[in-house]
Amino acid sequence: MIKRDVIVIGAGAAGLFCAAQAGARGRSVEVLDHAKKVGRKILMSGGGRCNFTNMYAEPANFLSQNPHFCKSALSRYTQWDFIALVAEHGIAYHEKTLGQLFCDDSAKDIVDLLLKECSKAHVTVTTRCEILSVEKCESGYLLSTSNGDYQCESLVVATGGLSMPKLGATPFGYKIAQQFGLNVLPTRAALVPFTLHEKDKATLAELSGIAVDVYASCNDTTFKEAMLFTHRGLSGPAMLQISSYWEAGDTLSINTLPNDDSHELLETARTSTPDALLATCLNKVFPKRMVQSFIDYHQWRNVPVKQLTHGECDAIANTLENWPVKPNGTEGYRTAEVTIGGVDTNELSSKTMMAKNVEGLYFIGEVVDVTGWLGGFNFQWAWSSGWAAGQVV
Ligand code: FDA
Repeated sequence: MIKRDVIVIGAGAAGLFCAAQAGARGRSVEVLDHAKKVGRKILMSGGGRCNFTNMYAEPANFLSQNPHFCKSALSRYTQWDFIALVAEHGIAYHEKTLGQLFCDDSAKDIVDLLLKECSKAHVTVTTRCEILSVEKCESGYLLSTSNGDYQCESLVVATGGLSMPKLGATPFGYKIAQQFGLNVLPTRAALVPFTLHEKDKATLAELSGIAVDVYASCNDTTFKEAMLFTHRGLSGPAMLQISSYWEAGDTLSINTLPNDDSHELLETARTSTPDALLATCLNKVFPKRMVQSFIDYHQWRNVPVKQLTHGECDAIANTLENWPVKPNGTEGYRTAEVTIGGVDTNELSSKTMMAKNVEGLYFIGEVVDVTGWLGGFNFQWAWSSGWAAGQVV
């Protein structure tokens, strides 16, 4: 029987960071992970450069059934704390856009940072370890694993969400929560591209590879970012962001002209270039390859703009500003960056992440019902929640 003060299940962002914090307090800590390698999502993240936090992170950037839950951890371990740690490790980084901080070199720098912090704190990290069962005992928890039996006082579950099963994602954390009587909220893929119905896909697939700035709105939330047409449907940051607010059956509203007034654009064209075709007028504001397909898709008349009736102009302008798109679905967990839902925050202390009714059992990171926007927010939640638990386990 291997005895530890703290066992952390999951050697991802939250688990490694929490382990290092607890180890630094003098606790004996072991992290167990079933994967061959630690931090696989970190290595894949940000196109290999890891968008490790966001300068403007605040509670409003997170979705949760209880939007107040994340406030305590985010305010006690902030983006500035993690940025200072990154700087302390001599990792060069830059802001790409909208406060998103990326490593200049490689996401591996962040995994190395976590492993160095764990090593400094005498944390043992064990990979290829299957957790076979978890039981509560008088002094804490008993774990049966492919690496032998463990006993610990505090058990931290940091097994993440369901996105990207190829990278080792499993529902383990939700199952442990349910085993100990905690409520788990329904989960769904988020930060994920949309798929389209066959009819839309057939026409819009021609636009594959084109990116345009849009306002994407759904359920009272709007993001202004780029939208990318793909062979399967719609992607790009605007679509990933709004996917977190979309539920099956909802219609998106896409303003394809976020920087122009579409009514004014057509009115001006009618007076200043009345003989120009509609396509010529739209070429001024959209990529050329997009215009003809868009005209065909919406069945607009590509005639000199003076021949369009006021009603037609209004309809075109309205569609440019509010193109209703009803996705068929999303690409699901296969390509989603995160999972919405998970361990109900009502079951946890927002200060310590411990289950309110199960002494010594903690949940941190993505397994909890706290989901960040695209842009480094999800890692910030992993650091902040991992830090909070790391102070007390
Ligand atoms: P994480 O998923 O990191 O770690 C969970 C660990 O638990 C894994 O090591 C897994 O192997 C292990 N595990 C699972 N089941 C287990 C079991 N049954 N037994 C033992 N171990 C088990 N976020 C962001 O802020 N900026 C970004 O740039 C990106 N980019 C990005 C790209 C891609 C491709 C993905 C899929 C995701 C992102 N994200 C992101 C999201 C971010 O990666 C994610 O929110 C965090 O990694 C969550 O950290 P956790 O530690 O909670 O889980």
